[in-house]
Amino acid sequence: MNKDVMIVTGAGQISMAIARRMGYGKKIVMGDKNMEHAKAIAKVMNEAGYDVEPIEMDLSSRESILGLISKAQEYGEIKMLVNGAGVSPSQAPASAILKVDLYGTAVLLEEVGKVIAKGGVGVTISSQSGWRMKQLTPEEDEQLATTPTEELLDIELLQPEKIKDTLHAYQLAKRCNEKRVMAECVKWGKRGARINAIAPGIIVTPLAIDEFNGPRGNFYKNMFAKCPEGRPATADEVANVAELLMSDKGAFITGSTFLMDGGATASYYYGPLKPDA
Ligand SMILES: NC(=O)c1ccc[n+]([C@@H]2O[C@H](COP(=O)([O-])OP(=O)(O)OC[C@H]3O[C@@H](n4cnc5c(N)ncnc54)[C@H](O)[C@@H]3O)[C@@H](O)[C@H]2O)c1
Repeated sequence: MNKDVMIVTGAGQISMAIARRMGYGKKIVMGDKNMEHAKAIAKVMNEAGYDVEPIEMDLSSRESILGLISKAQEYGEIKMLVNGAGVSPSQAPASAILKVDLYGTAVLLEEVGKVIAKGGVGVTISSQSGWRMKQLTPEEDEQLATTPTEELLDIELLQPEKIKDTLHAYQLAKRCNEKRVMAECVKWGKRGARINAIAPGIIVTPLAIDEFNGPRGNFYKNMFAKCPEGRPATADEVANVAELLMSDKGAFITGSTFLMDGGATASYYYGPLKPDA
């Protein structure tokens, strides 16, 4: 039977929360580099009435992304995309962060944008991190937005000597996600589809727990303690925003990035998280 299809990358907590909120009644094709993660999330969701097929895929590979899309098309039209795959600054070297979070996301948005059904909608998960980095020049922003995907990692801004550390690579990747969403929404719009990003603050997931236990653990714990909300959030709260962006209530929202960080970015600029406060 043909079903509307939701593609999910990254069988993590944020992806699962959004898939549970928006993926009922759909075929959910869930790709992850780590097949154990994909199978575990598929089991939880299938035992709760969803229809999830776990598959192995690598966001840093165009071939693998195309494989995921072909698999999805076997079931029906692609109506939704949730891109929740990613690696954080404590999980991988700068080169891998750029290949997965920056290049991989750009390729995924491009390739799904070629086949997304009319009325389709997608979200990609960027991060508050992209908002704390210093402003880029208009030329640099435009390069991140529009450089052809296969040339993206060659731009000057992304060369190893320009990247201070893995956090800087992550910030650049997440800034790039937002710029790609803006450029891609123009193309998605021609197909009658929408694409947006969500920039979360600290959400308790395995990825965030790796950060709490990593070299920047105190930095992150201080960040949620001193943000206006005074706590980290849950993946279900990210799903609340995804529901707005992906449902008809969000019909006028496309090319946008929704910051949801408990006020951490505001506090970083104008409150107790200010670097010299
Ligand atoms: N948790 C947070 O505090 C937080 C905050 C801001 C942004 N984010 C972003 O949210 C997204 C989802 O993170 P999460 O917190 O749900 O993490 P998670 O650890 O629960 O899930 C991430 C998943 O991505 C998979 N993955 C990693 N590399 C991959 C690759 N190359 N190809 C396919 N899958 C791959 C991992 O195996 C894992 O299952 C990431 O992009 C992350 O940067 C998370």
